[in-house]
Amino acid sequence: MGQAVLILIKPDGLKKSLTGNILTRLSETKLEIVAAKMVRVSKELAQEHYKHLKDKPFFGEIIKYLQGDFHDRKKVMALVYWGNDAITKCRELAGATNPEEAESTSIRGSYGRITTSGVYENVVHVSSNVPEAEREIKLWFTPDEIIVDLYATKDVVKKELSCKIWADK
Ligand code: TYD
Repeated sequence: MGQAVLILIKPDGLKKSLTGNILTRLSETKLEIVAAKMVRVSKELAQEHYKHLKDKPFFGEIIKYLQGDFHDRKKVMALVYWGNDAITKCRELAGATNPEEAESTSIRGSYGRITTSGVYENVVHVSSNVPEAEREIKLWFTPDEIIVDLYATKDVVKKELSCKIWADK
């Protein structure tokens, strides 16, 4: 059955120039990329993304990590992959959460590390199950940014919405 999954290439993955490598590994799955963008991660977005971990002792550190505080890369690459068993396939390629326990040929096993302060810098995020994938995709993307219809949408008219446009247009 078709499934959607959120992938984040985290700031360490970007700093280590692993983007191409990770996308190549993910292409082995034959899944389809249906959305992709670079994101400057606000504290609110990071906290909402990891809200299930808010009581963990490492919560503050992983918020800083996702925001890029440890890698002078204030950005992540966010993608949505779609296809059969997308979550299982991508989580298998990513490997275990703890890079030292991850299969050595997996993305996290190959490129992740545990910092001296104990944070797992594990290069990628992959949604863990179907409801989490839906929650995360709706958090990171608007319907217009995804080229297929994944979830129900509704039309609203937004009045007096201010947004940036190119100065010469
Ligand atoms: P979690 O959602 O449990 O794992 P996953 O990303 O594999 O779904 O954890 C979120 C992130 O928190 C994880 O990618 C790395 C970090 N983390 C630690 O730094 N230390 C820990 O003990 C755990 C469990 C996670």
